[in-house]
Amino acid sequence: CGIIGYIGPEEPVSLVLEALSRLEYRGYDSAGVAYFGKDGRIEVARASGKLSNLVALCQGQEGRPGPAIGHIRWATHGAPTEDNAHPHRSGPIVVVHNGIIENDRELRECLTSEGFSFSSETDTEVVAHLIHRYFRSTGNLSESVRLALRDVRGSYALAVLCEDRPGELVGVRRGAPLLLGEGDHSFFLASDVPAFLKWTRKVMPLPPDVIAAIGPEGLALLPVDGSVPLSPVFEEVPWDPVAAEKGHYRHFMEKEIFEGPRAIMDTLEGRIAPGHGRVMLSELTRLGPSPPEIVFVACGTSYHASLLGRQLIESLSDIPVRVEIASEFRYRPLRIRKGAWVVGVTQSGETADTLGALDHARREGYLTLAVTNVPGSSITREAEATLLTRAGPEIGVASTKAFVAQMTAVWLLALHLARRTGLREEEGSRRSLELLLRAPARLEGFLGAIDLAAIDRLAEKVASSRFVIFIGRGLDYPLAIEGALKLKEITYRPADGYPGGELKHGPIALIEPGVLVVAPLVDLDLAAKEWSNIREVEARGGTVVTIASPESSPVAPSYPLPPTDGWEGMFFATAVLQLLSYRTAVLMGNDVDQPRNLAKSVTVE
Ligand code: G6P
Repeated sequence: CGIIGYIGPEEPVSLVLEALSRLEYRGYDSAGVAYFGKDGRIEVARASGKLSNLVALCQGQEGRPGPAIGHIRWATHGAPTEDNAHPHRSGPIVVVHNGIIENDRELRECLTSEGFSFSSETDTEVVAHLIHRYFRSTGNLSESVRLALRDVRGSYALAVLCEDRPGELVGVRRGAPLLLGEGDHSFFLASDVPAFLKWTRKVMPLPPDVIAAIGPEGLALLPVDGSVPLSPVFEEVPWDPVAAEKGHYRHFMEKEIFEGPRAIMDTLEGRIAPGHGRVMLSELTRLGPSPPEIVFVACGTSYHASLLGRQLIESLSDIPVRVEIASEFRYRPLRIRKGAWVVGVTQSGETADTLGALDHARREGYLTLAVTNVPGSSITREAEATLLTRAGPEIGVASTKAFVAQMTAVWLLALHLARRTGLREEEGSRRSLELLLRAPARLEGFLGAIDLAAIDRLAEKVASSRFVIFIGRGLDYPLAIEGALKLKEITYRPADGYPGGELKHGPIALIEPGVLVVAPLVDLDLAAKEWSNIREVEARGGTVVTIASPESSPVAPSYPLPPTDGWEGMFFATAVLQLLSYRTAVLMGNDVDQPRNLAKSVTVE
């Protein structure tokens, strides 16, 4: 979804519609706008389908200068009805929202018992009612938003209007993106910069949990925790649209690592059934009931995401899963079960080996599924069904946010199949969904507090090592080999990844001073075993860098991760491993975004 907020002297209806047209890549299932009409009341116009339907509906409508908000929705399940379209209203409060409210069900019950009635299935309406509830007692819009957010768990970007406060616009975010723009006597809020680039180049990313309250006195940035207001710092983005996308980051890779939370958020969007009890991947309907076997085919980073997919699916269902390197699979006889799904995972959707592997399976009569980041790419035409990851365009050649989105997609797939096959552990699945829903906000919090100085100290160790071995067990194994791949790709350091238990069967012969071992430890079931392997390295004079949460670490790790009791630790460890490679490459003065010999998508065999 995409949201926009505007306050200023221009006619708001046409401005909001034009801004929404720049966000259309974020959705086109329904759209809506809210503005102050000539009589001083808020008008809300909503239309299902593409933005052009809303534009037709608003033909001849004019608002009076002042605040206005707009929304464009991307729903992948259920009818994208007008009732479910944003903005949502409760009394004087009108809200647009991008994100997922996790405790929607409890809040809905509580608000219903207090007499609020619901006219949509959306979690957004819960937020509108909550703000309304507090506005009744406080009469202060930003304070009501602040109080409402204390009750809400989840990821969100919100823009809020109030009929009783015709000169005010409020925005806030956590987990989902929201940027502020400052124009001539005007302010903008938007999910992405292109929405308001026509009117201003002065941009400021809104920090999480900080309310942007715009009123007659200008802009105030009020932390939700009640601490001292922040001072706004706007930066000019250059007009060049590609450079504009790089924002204040030095490289695309760096920017894209920090877009991980958004990639998770956008990939989740619309895929959790109302009430959030379960995952609904309507894209898979045409493949029929769950398969007797799943075979992932992929290359590079996408292969590593597939390995994670195997672990997650096998732990939540009884479906056997295989993972195959696409370039090998395509030339082998197919010895897989009748009715199996062959799943091609590819960021670009254009990798020749993966396309070839899927074609091989399709010709033999197997059902094929594409998991890709590029709508309309070749694989979407090749496969029977497509599950899109929504990391947005990835420009850095070394894949980062697309990997995070793929992790999200395979996690969703596991939850979807768990529901369909009958759960081994229903409780485990429910908890797993809770963790996935809170992952964007937690990863954002983690990245927001990242200790770059500590990462740089580790990067120096990496840069001065002759060889780097990444080890991991269980979930940590795919993370380890992806960590090794990232390092090779952009630093050209000799590096390799092994299952922790395999170290003693050969690679341990390499251990000597000058060889570094890097160990992510997020698989809580196997961390103790992994520590034994770490001790084996240390006993032979090797240096070890550990990346671990308190639960998986008997001693202080080299880089600490936040506490967790499930799979979400893989997002934290991935961010650290990506940043470790990134900072090592920067330290070495390499061309981070375009490393030698590589291509972003390889369309030859
Ligand atoms: C190339 C890229 C890798 C990528 C691989 C698979 O080799 O350099 O970063 O992981 O292709 O790409 P895909 O688009 O299929 O995920």
